[in-house]
Amino acid sequence: MRVLVTGGAGYIGSHVVLALALRGDEPVVFDNLKSGRPANLPAGVGLVRGDVREPGALAGALAAHGLFDAAMHFAAEKAAGLSMVNPQPFTDTNILGTAHLVHALLDAGCHRLVFSSTAAVYGEPQKTPIDESHPTEPVNWYGATKLEGERLLAWYGRLTPLRSIALRYFNAAGLDPAGRIRHREPDATNLIPVVLEIAAGLRPGPLQVFGDGFDTRDGTGVRDYVHVTDLATAHLAALDELAAGPDSAAGSHLAINLGTGSGHSVAGVLEAARRITGRPIPSEVVAPRAGDPARVHASAEAARKRWGWQPTHSSLDELISTAWAAYQGEPSAR
Ligand code: WQD
Repeated sequence: MRVLVTGGAGYIGSHVVLALALRGDEPVVFDNLKSGRPANLPAGVGLVRGDVREPGALAGALAAHGLFDAAMHFAAEKAAGLSMVNPQPFTDTNILGTAHLVHALLDAGCHRLVFSSTAAVYGEPQKTPIDESHPTEPVNWYGATKLEGERLLAWYGRLTPLRSIALRYFNAAGLDPAGRIRHREPDATNLIPVVLEIAAGLRPGPLQVFGDGFDTRDGTGVRDYVHVTDLATAHLAALDELAAGPDSAAGSHLAINLGTGSGHSVAGVLEAARRITGRPIPSEVVAPRAGDPARVHASAEAARKRWGWQPTHSSLDELISTAWAAYQGEPSAR
């Protein structure tokens, strides 16, 4: 299949592009290269430099490459904390950019879309594990913009032939186990990249542990970390489901969680990182972040039942060792 992949040079997008290329699909990447890197892409993959905030650029990319069988939409602003102090880039890219993409796809006769969403649409967990029926009450503008994107797709699934699947990631981590993608998140704020930057001497320590008084086994925050390669496998399963369906006049929309169903604490991540890197990684406990829940983890039953999806790379050791490789210049053990 020929697949337009917005944000395909970025962290998660590039792992999906790799999986598409490895199985013989034809991904064409559309990326403004603000955080994505051409070096993240396999040789021979088409790259169109463009921005989803510009409708004309999308229309041009679609016209230049002939009919696309489907699209996958990763281009987004994703720093949850930043979204609360500078909302407009999130509005422009995550909401308006998604609308521009949908209109360009429909105009070009492309009716299949996999949408990169997030567990942040749920907000404060009211029950765990979190399944797709959990209330969606985001607590930051980033999560709200992703939820708005999902709502737009749901309505267009009723009003147009668009058929879409939104994938709600929990905490994405790790890198390609074969070391083919060396992506290091610029201006990282997520736990594992921050820990590894400190371990590699790329960021001054100590790691600030945001609170150790939570109602968890060791008092530190628990999250459901899922390997980016496992996420990529699920994206291809969603794409295949859309491709298998009739390209009928009827549209549809679906949202599915992608997590492991279990969680690791900050202290557990630190212990594993010290063991795997052999570095001390100093840390200090500071006040919890406003709005930070104690524990977030997914029910991944829907993805398992629908696609037989099982995360097989998401052990804490593989999450950390594959990411650490990007700081060491050697492919990881696996
Ligand atoms: C993980 C745990 C922190 C950094 C965010 C977004 C979410 C999604 C994933 C895109 C928490 C603790 C972290 C640090 C720490 N992004 N922590 N010190 O907040 O669960 O989710 O990223 O889809 O939308 O909200 O991820 O990595 O920031 O935090 O103690 O320097 O690590 O308190 O318990 P989070 P995170």
